[in-house]
Amino acid sequence: MPLLGVNIDHVATVRQARRTCEPDPVWAAALAELGGADGITIHLREDRRHIGDRDLRILRETVTVKLNLEMACEPEIVQIACQAKPRQATLVPERREEITTEGGLDVVRHRDRVTMAVEQLRAAGVSVSLFLDPDPRQIDEAARLKADAVELHTGQYALASGAAQEEELKKLKAVGAQIIAAGMALHAGHGLTYRNVRPVATTEGMHELNIGHSIIARAIMVGLEKAVRQMKRLVT
Ligand code: PXP
Repeated sequence: MPLLGVNIDHVATVRQARRTCEPDPVWAAALAELGGADGITIHLREDRRHIGDRDLRILRETVTVKLNLEMACEPEIVQIACQAKPRQATLVPERREEITTEGGLDVVRHRDRVTMAVEQLRAAGVSVSLFLDPDPRQIDEAARLKADAVELHTGQYALASGAAQEEELKKLKAVGAQIIAAGMALHAGHGLTYRNVRPVATTEGMHELNIGHSIIARAIMVGLEKAVRQMKRLVT
C-alpha cells in the first residue's frame, strides 16, 4: 500500500503570481494532512519561483508527516537542506527555463556532483531519494551510490496512451523490481492523475507516490482536503 506524498508547489505558484501572502502553502500542508497525506513534498528551486526559504522553515516545524524536499544538487541548496534536515530529500535535475521537472536526474553523467550531494545529505541524517528515468543503467548507479530510494519518473507513462502506455508501464514495473532487488525503496511520480494512477499504485513493492498538479487542480473545484482523500482512496 503506497504512501501518498502531496506536492504543494502549485499553491505557492498561485501566491507568487501576485507576490502576496495567500494562498499559504503552510495552510495547504495542514489540509493535505487532514485529507490523509502521508507526506508533504516541496521543491525549493534555485530561483525560488514558488516555494521559498520561509515556507521550508515553517513547514519543517509544522508538518507532522514526512517532509520531502525536492532539490537540485546545487551547493547552496544542499547546504540549506543539510541545515533544515527534512525527513527526505529527492534529488532532481533543474533547468531555469523548464515549466516543471522535465526528465530524471542523469546520475551516470553527473556522478561526482550527485555523490557529493548524497554524502552531505546522509551525513546530516537526511534520507536520499533520486528522481530517475526508468533506465536500468541509472538504477545500477543509484545502487552504487547507496541511495535510500529511487523515485521513478512517470512522465512518459502519463503522456502515453493505449499500447504505448502499456509498454511504459511494463518498463516501470521491470525497473521497479530492479530497484527493490538492489535494496532501495521504490517511489514514483510526475504526471500522475486520478485516471492513470491505479496501475502505478498497484505495482509490486510501490512504497511512495508523489503527486501535485492533479490534486491541486481538483482542489480548486472540491477543496484540498477532499481532493487528497479522493486520491488516497485510489492509491491504497
Ligand atoms: N515528483 C517529482 C520529483 C517532481 O519534480 C514533481 C513535480 O514537481 C512531482 C513528483 C509531482 O508531479 P505532478 O505535479 O505532475 O504530480
